[in-house]
Amino acid sequence: MLIQVSDIARYEGQEVTLRGWLYNRTDKGRLQFLLVRDGSGVAQCVAFKKELPPEVFEIAQTLTQESSVIVTGVVRADERAPGYPGGFEVGITGLELVQMAGEYPIQPKDHGVEFLMDNRHLWVRSSRQWAILRIRATIIHTIRTWLDDHGYLLVDTPILTPAAGENTTTLFEIDYFGQPAYLAQTGQLYNEANIGSFGKVYCFGPTFRAEKSKTRRHLMEFWMVEPEMAFFSLEDLMDMEEQFVSAIVQSVLEKHRMELDILERDTTRLETVTAPFYRISYDEAVERLQQLAAETDDPERKAELAITWGDDFGAPHETAVAEMFDKPVFVYHYPTAAKAFYMQPVEGRPESCRSVDLLAPEGYGEITGGSERIYDADLLKQRIDEIGISPENYAWYLDLRKYGSVPHAGFGLGLERTVAWICGLPHIRETVPYARMLNRLYP
Ligand code: 4AD
Ligand code: MG
Repeated sequence: MLIQVSDIARYEGQEVTLRGWLYNRTDKGRLQFLLVRDGSGVAQCVAFKKELPPEVFEIAQTLTQESSVIVTGVVRADERAPGYPGGFEVGITGLELVQMAGEYPIQPKDHGVEFLMDNRHLWVRSSRQWAILRIRATIIHTIRTWLDDHGYLLVDTPILTPAAGENTTTLFEIDYFGQPAYLAQTGQLYNEANIGSFGKVYCFGPTFRAEKSKTRRHLMEFWMVEPEMAFFSLEDLMDMEEQFVSAIVQSVLEKHRMELDILERDTTRLETVTAPFYRISYDEAVERLQQLAAETDDPERKAELAITWGDDFGAPHETAVAEMFDKPVFVYHYPTAAKAFYMQPVEGRPESCRSVDLLAPEGYGEITGGSERIYDADLLKQRIDEIGISPENYAWYLDLRKYGSVPHAGFGLGLERTVAWICGLPHIRETVPYARMLNRLYP
């Protein structure tokens, strides 16, 4: 019977067939230990010379890494058997070669990252990458089901857009039949139109930023889920985000112990990710950073932490603020000048805006950014003029403030940063199947 390795425990004592690729082979002379991957897991399959026709044993003995095979054999429990899930092995009764692989570029040894990224089309087969991308799929699934179950409607937003959504400095411009167009930086502005029809919506797709930064947190193409809600305040937003993010983290802990083990992820800090999270104002965060900088003797650290009111946070600031807490922390009311044009000013204090970023623990920094949106037509028009974007491109967006405008809020959660955090990865490049970075468009 054809089975999936992930189900192997159900077939103890039975003869089964697996189809997959040779992950590794250990040659013990009369015994050949074949680790076979089938996509759902990895199983140890044992070929014993005495029990097989010579031509079949010969295949087992000469199989190269990543050769494709069809294996038949009897499942037996053996605690020591390696694999995922492991604990069972297959005593081979038949072995069919589909294709003998040529010399495989990725060997079970340490390769440089650039080499692995050049071979990403093959690297995705390695168990670490397999574990990461499976966790990514679950995160996507939880994002969708949580939102669907809580009354949010998925409404898709366009990728080709006539104007900037966030800022004018990170746009990918393309030629749209002689007219400039841009790859979407965000679906938010369209979400704001869609709440007028559906109340609570989200979009979830690829977004693009031509950011000339080479940090471990930046991609040119990344996936973002953006919920947007009518009649919602900043406080409502934080309440919802902490439930949502906790559900994502807990779903991975529930479903992916094996993958987290493969990644050697210490899950202690993840277990505590449950609502409520901490909340501090930007003002307070700046004070605490200044205090931290004053207390340190290390001049380099002092320089890194230096900040004056009005500055946006850099990665060292985000990490330092997050490390003051044992759970994720919301930082709210950032300086208006440091944020996007559409954010609602704080009542009586227009230099600050009703924005909130969620900072993840363990140095992962900002994983969500959101705000209340300006809902007054005149104020929004004034902000558009101030930053010098063409008002004619935003006529439809201003319309939304004329026909039943309501206080509303939303945020974007970066999928890849979330995957990096939950998997405990040092760099965002492994969180997406084919990363698009400053120096990389291949494969
Ligand atoms: O803070 P950002 O730029 O917010 C927006 O785009 C809003 N329009 C979202 C909204 O309110 N609907 O981006 C949101 C999140 C960040 O917190 C981060 O997690 C991720 O998107 N992000 C990136 N991830 C990878 N690479 C990049 N270059 C990213 N830029 C933002
Ligand atoms: Mg942001």
